[in-house]
Amino acid sequence: MKLVPNPLVVFVGGLLFTAAVQAAEPIQPVRPVQDVNLAQVELGKKLYFDPRLSRSGFISCNSCHNLSMGGTDNLKTSIGHNWQQGPINAPTVLNSSLNVAQFWDGRARDLKEQAGGPIENPKEMAFSHTLTVDVLRSIPEYAIEFRQVFGAGEITIDEVTEAIAEFEKTLVTPNGRFDRWLLGEEKAITADEKAGYELFKTSGCVACHNGEAVGGTSFQKMGVVEPYQTSNPAEGRIAVTGKDADRFSFKVPTLRNVELTYPYFHDGEAATLTDAVDLMGRLQLGRTYTPEENAQIVAFLKTLTGDQPRFELPVLPPSRDDTPPPRPFD
Ligand code: HEC
Ligand code: HEC
Repeated sequence: MKLVPNPLVVFVGGLLFTAAVQAAEPIQPVRPVQDVNLAQVELGKKLYFDPRLSRSGFISCNSCHNLSMGGTDNLKTSIGHNWQQGPINAPTVLNSSLNVAQFWDGRARDLKEQAGGPIENPKEMAFSHTLTVDVLRSIPEYAIEFRQVFGAGEITIDEVTEAIAEFEKTLVTPNGRFDRWLLGEEKAITADEKAGYELFKTSGCVACHNGEAVGGTSFQKMGVVEPYQTSNPAEGRIAVTGKDADRFSFKVPTLRNVELTYPYFHDGEAATLTDAVDLMGRLQLGRTYTPEENAQIVAFLKTLTGDQPRFELPVLPPSRDDTPPPRPFD
């Protein structure tokens, strides 16, 4: 009897594996909202829109992550407390639950950990967690709602960030034209858009921009083939790991809804998708696209715009006489 040599088994296994991977596209459709605690979501939505989480009483999460504008502020860098210039471009909150970690350098593990950051950041909302909790505790409707959602006990910052994170989980954008095409609706995208997708795959963009969010799955160097010139001092992932190899590595941004989230890159220096695609081709892949190719890729990227979150604007409970007052100018 002849034994089947091991390499053959491995080879056959390899073939099966390749076949399975080929059948699947490197991008998957965005799944609709799932597994959320609806009571937490409703509370988190109020907090997301409540400017009393800031020292000025004027800046809410929605100021910089405007849900009427793709979850961004469409500015190069954000405007914070006292009109301070922010250090870096505000990424979208849409589909941010799909990110491996939060922030350009990934310094927050998840949405809950992230949400505490901007409230305390002197250049953003410039408040303190203690004061946030004091404000919320002074408003009886909030006290009641927190108790209904989290049980007895005083409001804590932990509950605040948990509710906001739960609301953010609902900010997914399924049903974009590209997803409908992925799911078998042949006519959902045009021939040009499809050609753009082929270029996006064959020239290697999918190595970094893949998965459900078309990004958000890894940290990668900005300027693989050619260095990126910028006056922005951010150095990316090295701030977290301290490793030299991570200098100028940034979280690969999601390309979902990218048509809405201009300007582009961590410094906001690319004003248009045409510019962003041109730079990505040259700096990451050493490839210069013709104007036609660039336009096809841009056309493909615009098919990634999905259904935007829809809900009634929350009505916030009014402050009381003893609510700590806003301090807009200090
Ligand atoms: C003053 C503008 C501003 C405000 C207010 C603000 N953010 Fe941000 N947000 C930013 C900027 C800028 C970044 C990127 C910072 C970085 O990566 O270093 C960011 C990053 C994020 C991220 C990470 C997204 C990603 O892809 O990494 C999330 C999520 C987020 N903010 C949610 C919130 C929430 C929730 C609030 C309210 C509690 C809030 N933000 C308030 C400007 C703001
Ligand atoms: C080696 C990994 C890698 C490859 C390959 C790559 N990208 Fe990127 N992409 C990134 C990173 C990292 C960023 C963020 C860079 C920054 O902000 O400094 C980015 C940013 C972008 C942005 C801006 C998104 C935003 O919201 O700011 C677009 C658009 C984009 N890439 C498209 C493409 C296209 C099109 C290709 C193929 C031509 C491509 N990328 C290839 C890693 C990659």
